[in-house]
Amino acid sequence: MNKTILVTGGLGYIGSHTVVELQKNAYNVVVVDDLSNSKKEVAERITAITGEPVKLYISDINDQDDLEALFELEAIDGVVHFAAFKSVGESVNEPFKYYANNIGGMIALQKVMNKHRVSSVVFSSSCTVYGDTKQSPIDETHPVVDAISPYGTTKIVCEQILKDLCKHSGVKGVILRYFNPVGAHPSARIGELPLGVPNNLVPYITQTAAGIREKLTVFGNDYNTPDGTNIRDYIHVVDLAKAHVKAMDYALTMDQEYDIFNLGTGKGHSVLEVIKAFEKVSGTDLPHVIGDRRTGDVEQIWADASKAENKLEWTCQYDMEDMMDTAWKWQQSLGAG
Ligand code: NAD
Ligand code: WQD
Repeated sequence: MNKTILVTGGLGYIGSHTVVELQKNAYNVVVVDDLSNSKKEVAERITAITGEPVKLYISDINDQDDLEALFELEAIDGVVHFAAFKSVGESVNEPFKYYANNIGGMIALQKVMNKHRVSSVVFSSSCTVYGDTKQSPIDETHPVVDAISPYGTTKIVCEQILKDLCKHSGVKGVILRYFNPVGAHPSARIGELPLGVPNNLVPYITQTAAGIREKLTVFGNDYNTPDGTNIRDYIHVVDLAKAHVKAMDYALTMDQEYDIFNLGTGKGHSVLEVIKAFEKVSGTDLPHVIGDRRTGDVEQIWADASKAENKLEWTCQYDMEDMMDTAWKWQQSLGAG
């Protein structure tokens, strides 16, 4: 019998791509999403890719009664937990909104999972838990330090809650620490839907090329890196989604209490290199200027992703040009309505 996986936040950017890959790998998928940062039509777009309907519950996971009702109706075998707010800047201005949704949501979910004896969970964490590190490539043994933002705090606290439950309550947890997810599904049917002015580099680039933004500001070129701009580990969202299938397979069968994996390509790219790759695949000149450093930016960070590669038998298939090409096609599809 195929296993049934609940995907919280399954209509969001990474969640939607993961639903596609889970369906392609013969999992039955149930999605819960409150549409706080997504649209209902994403479910139809997923179906257009996979040919399979998406069983969707529109609900806030903090609503314990609704979540309880879902677990009564569906025979859930495991959970991939994406549902959370994710804007670092917003979390600084509205920390309680982040503590309540991200930490509250994790607690609500774990309570219902516990009651229904569902033990396997894959959790979306972030490389932000490594803080302002000076060490790259960075592996999973690097200490988790003081968070840079309330958003980062929510990831550290949720990791800790999960570890406690794994040690003492029989939960089997896989913690995935994403580096910088970018790009879109090659079909251009699903991708990132940033609300308002994007904070992240790649949506800002594609919106600038589309004429929605006047120009990109590169946040500083006086860092101690070869071209002076920040270095990040950008990973294609489809590669990231595929890692979730491997992580779910593992969570359903693992012996140890919990496990933690970095998800990145293991390669760093500077901001200027990303711009260059975008210009190459799009055939455009991207209007950009050099501006001041952005407060809170880490100089350079990229993953040692060898643990995920070896233990989950997972590798990245997409390179930087693929990331830019699919991001641009997705942006163009939005422009066409
Ligand atoms: P997203 O905002 O596109 O997706 C999150 C989804 O969760 C949205 O569809 C939103 O409507 C839903 N949601 C939020 N709160 C909810 C709630 N209480 N109940 C039900 N649904 C809720 O974000 P994303 O980029 O897909 O990120 C997914 C996860 O990955 C998040 O936990 C995020 O913190 C983490 N993450 C993201 C990145 C990144 O750069 N995108 C990096 C590291 C970690
Ligand atoms: C990438 C690089 C900027 C915009 C964030 C979160 C992190 C994780 C991933 C969730 C940086 C530069 C950006 C612009 C620029 N998310 N930049 N001009 O900051 O690495 O990580 O998303 O967990 O927690 O902090 O990503 O895309 O914002 O920036 O020059 O207009 O692009 O300075 O070097 P970041 P980003």
